[in-house]
Amino acid sequence: MKKEFGAKPYLFPMPVLMIATYGDGDKVDVMNMAWGGVCDDNMVALNISESHKTAENIKKRKAFTLSIADVDHIEAADFFGIASGNNMQDKFERSGLHAVKSDKIDAPVIEEFPVTLECKVAQLQHTDSGFRVVGEILNVLADEKVLDARGKIDPVKVNAFAYDPFSNGYYRIGEKVGQAWSSGKKLMP
Ligand SMILES: Cc1cc2nc3c(=O)[nH]c(=O)nc-3n(C[C@H](O)[C@H](O)[C@H](O)COP(=O)(O)O)c2cc1C
Repeated sequence: MKKEFGAKPYLFPMPVLMIATYGDGDKVDVMNMAWGGVCDDNMVALNISESHKTAENIKKRKAFTLSIADVDHIEAADFFGIASGNNMQDKFERSGLHAVKSDKIDAPVIEEFPVTLECKVAQLQHTDSGFRVVGEILNVLADEKVLDARGKIDPVKVNAFAYDPFSNGYYRIGEKVGQAWSSGKKLMP
């Protein structure tokens, strides 16, 4: 037997993405986003409420960074999803995190987050299902401390966590259980 839940946005895991932008006077803002992801080799899509400060900043500056939140900074990451730059002038400062300007785009790079995609706006889409920002990935930055011996990003070292839409929990990601395009090979004819 399976229980029916009706129409809910019930996917798991959902990412915990940190979208960082500049507002007027280069004021840094960061928001927490679960409804975002990759939509092409070099593209990401953000499903974002147009009332957020982040949406206003993206429209004005045409750029953003997207970072993977790590467990070490879970309090700041969640805070970025509770507080709004629309009505909290010191939102970013209160987090205690630090930002530097990207040298590729007009957006801040948050120093504490281990992996960051630097993106410029490719499209602003107003659709029946809401406002969507499509961004082109120009570069990826990763802290050396999350690299393995081959210089690749090690997912365990990233120490990321996922969002659970069933009960609003956060879950650490870490144990490797298989290899993509390989674990299923034994079932191939
Ligand atoms: C776990 C989590 C996921 C969220 N995902 C989204 C999302 O995908 N899209 C969105 O528009 N808001 C999302 N939010 C809400 C925004 O992060 C929140 O409204 C924030 O205050 C916006 O900040 P800003 O006004 O400074 O841009 C999420 C919040 C949390 C806690």
